[in-house]
Amino acid sequence: MTKYVIHGGKPLFGEVEISGAKNAAVAIIPAALMVDGVCRIENIPQISDVTLCLRILENLGAGIRSVNSHTVEIDCTRIHSTRTSYELARKIRASYYLIGALLGRFGQAEVAMPGGCNFGVRPIDQHVKGFTAMGAKVVVEGGFIHASAETGRLRGANVYLDVVSVGATMNIMMAAALAEGNTVIENAAKEPHIVDLANFLNSMGASIRGAGTDTIKITGVSRLTGGTYAIIPDQIEAGTYMAAVAAAGGQVLIKNIIPKHMDCITAKLEEMGVSVEEKEDTLLVRRTEALQKTNVKTLPYPGFPTDMQPQITAVLSLAEGTSLVTESVWNNRYRYVDELKRMGASIQVDGKTAVVEGVDHLTGAPIQACDLRAGAALVIAALAARGQSEISCVQYIERGYENIVEKLRGLGADIRAVEVPGDSDELEAHIG
Ligand code: EPU
Repeated sequence: MTKYVIHGGKPLFGEVEISGAKNAAVAIIPAALMVDGVCRIENIPQISDVTLCLRILENLGAGIRSVNSHTVEIDCTRIHSTRTSYELARKIRASYYLIGALLGRFGQAEVAMPGGCNFGVRPIDQHVKGFTAMGAKVVVEGGFIHASAETGRLRGANVYLDVVSVGATMNIMMAAALAEGNTVIENAAKEPHIVDLANFLNSMGASIRGAGTDTIKITGVSRLTGGTYAIIPDQIEAGTYMAAVAAAGGQVLIKNIIPKHMDCITAKLEEMGVSVEEKEDTLLVRRTEALQKTNVKTLPYPGFPTDMQPQITAVLSLAEGTSLVTESVWNNRYRYVDELKRMGASIQVDGKTAVVEGVDHLTGAPIQACDLRAGAALVIAALAARGQSEISCVQYIERGYENIVEKLRGLGADIRAVEVPGDSDELEAHIG
């Protein structure tokens, strides 16, 4: 098992390169199953969720070839099974994308139910609503979700999502890309990775319009063929480094980002007195003065992302005054707050709202990550805190942040990964 040992209180200086987007990669890799040919995917982040996705595909008969550390070629011409490995698929939340991909291409899918949840109920009823509208029968049996198109191939349908769901939007979009006829998804999510998945599918021969708006129109095609595609930069990884600079101080150039995707995060940091200068595909983030309080409410894109809520709360715990954070996407995403309190933060959680009373400083402590973004928040707090922190359960962090230790060390942070006895594989929370 690995722990991060951090001596905080040192401002960050230098440049950091942002990797490909996790939440795009974990959808685009399953979508490669729909391609009857070879697709080359570039800018893939080296994170454990991606490794799992690739192993799941390999298990189904996909040929996977690493071209370099961030590029793979996936050949799904010889898929021999539509039943995913239980052990692999249950470890990752995004395995639900395998349903849309397999159902779309082969008219059937058997995918393990993703396991326990970390921040509240995570239903997939909207995914199922879409598949059912397209003529699929979906049942849960023996720990697997069994989905099959009653006529062998899905048919296009109009689907209105009752909640704005990233996963349901992407899953229905995949299934519809190879369905017969037209599909319209209304009240669709608009996150950057939805546009990325649509662009990937279109570059393989699909016909999808409107991704990035709340109405997506898909004309089914009979086959997708191969091609090359590069994944967009990770909005949340970039936001996490911005938050780290805000908390620890210093000046960092965040490279390889799409500034438009960062607007919702930039706006909040500027309200707090952090300077953010935008240039083409970089952001220069600088904190010279004391942080000011602000209020944050998480919302679907283009609102403030829920996946940045723990990190911004860590920053606000050091701001002057009292800030309110409202989590409106997930119903239990404050489990990390107790860990921040161990470091001296003053935060009261009442339902969906956290009241954050800024303190003068945090102090290092032994703390434990309970999920990916919670872990990122603890790293941020530890970088800003006086003294030494030891963060355990960093496997969660490594699900979604490529080389975080090396990247932070490159900015002058005093952070080390140390091996301690323990079992690293049995993480029973499946989020992200
Ligand atoms: N919801 C339903 N029914 C559904 C689907 C969702 O009620 O069928 C509800 C959820 O319970 C939640 C809300 O809708 O309250 C939004 O859920 P959504 O489906 O958008 O989330 P997701 O697709 O399961 C993805 C990201 C999460 C991110 C959310 C919201 C991936 C693999 N995961 O999850 O990312 O928080 O969108 O933006 O893309 C992370 O990266 O740390 C992470 C948790």
